Amino acid sequence: MSTGIDMAPLTGTAEEPVLEAVGLGKTFQVSGPPTAGGRRKVVAVEGVDLTLRAGSTVALVGESGSGKSTVARLLAQLLPPTAGEVRLHGKPVHARTGRQRRRYVGEVQLLLQDPFASLNPIHTIRYQLTRVLRLHGNRADHRPTEEKLVELLTTVQLHPAGQFLDKYPHQLSGGQLQRIAIARTLAASPSVLLLDEPVSMLDVSIRLGILNLLAGLKEQQQLGTLYITHDIASARYFADEILVMYRGHVVERGPSESVTQHPAHPYTQLLIDSAPDPARRGRDANEIGGIGQGGGAASAAAPTGCPFARRCPYAMPVCLSQMPAVSEVGTEAEGHRVRCWLNTPETAGEARSPRH
Ligand SMILES: Nc1ncnc2c1ncn2[C@@H]1O[C@H](COP(=O)(O)OP(=O)(O)O)[C@@H](O)[C@H]1O
Ligand SMILES: [Mg+2]
Repeated sequence: MSTGIDMAPLTGTAEEPVLEAVGLGKTFQVSGPPTAGGRRKVVAVEGVDLTLRAGSTVALVGESGSGKSTVARLLAQLLPPTAGEVRLHGKPVHARTGRQRRRYVGEVQLLLQDPFASLNPIHTIRYQLTRVLRLHGNRADHRPTEEKLVELLTTVQLHPAGQFLDKYPHQLSGGQLQRIAIARTLAASPSVLLLDEPVSMLDVSIRLGILNLLAGLKEQQQLGTLYITHDIASARYFADEILVMYRGHVVERGPSESVTQHPAHPYTQLLIDSAPDPARRGRDANEIGGIGQGGGAASAAAPTGCPFARRCPYAMPVCLSQMPAVSEVGTEAEGHRVRCWLNTPETAGEARSPRH
């Protein structure tokens, strides 16, 4: 019953892809109870396709355990994939060592959510930034290191730079540290930034400032950016394209405006209903099960149907037995696609009103 459409990203955009994931998958082997044979498989990511282009942002949205960080770690080459491949400037990236790996790490920078964990507590900011400049910095830039350090801190809006360079991480606030962590990624002159929930550990009052900074950098430095978040409202603000992940699968993707204004997958609808927006009226997230538990990776024993079927208020028999085909939400050119039987003409007629 396949429609012949797949979840591949839109092609034909002006910018060439910088970093791509093609059919990317990761299955972890974890130890399980001795009675179950001792080992268990966790399918964290399955068949993920995404394309990052200079100056634009793709958001990966989903609740905890849906596989977002695993995608980031696969793209950063911190983990080897068990299926599919990563391509940088169109060329497949295989397990790299030595200089090749160093060049890759410089070009594809990962920013983590916890700035306290990502900076070394025993070294000053000056030491940590200088080290990255030496290892990965732009070799064609012959200015004195001090000048580059001041420029980096100015770029992340820490003024005056001298006040921060000789400090240790524990002497700075969370927001200042995340700015330093951003400066450290920029010191490597990257072409790709992978942002794994970059503001989720910061005070709500300073999140917007950091997001604005990152949005400005993407424009000025023409970075290809992956923005990982569980907050679809911030993805709409920040990204050009949204990919919604559930249990390791991309279940809906498309231009941010279209996915958030016309969500087709019941899980995307749930995410939107769960996003804090006092002005919105309508269904309460709790009506369809609420967000929180249940987004974890599928185990090997999971059924073959839609990963969301057991939580879905509109589930039909086919949803429990067969992985949904991918279908277009609007016209093909719009690039808004969903993996849901409700959107497939052959099965949509079977849909009933939500079960509670
Ligand atoms: N190193 C690992 N070993 C075993 N399972 C893992 C490992 N890393 C992640 N997982 C599992 O993979 C799934 C996805 O995790 P993760 O990518 O961290 O999700 P997210 O970032 O969306 O919260 C989870 O079920 C998690 O427990
Ligand atoms: Mg994560």
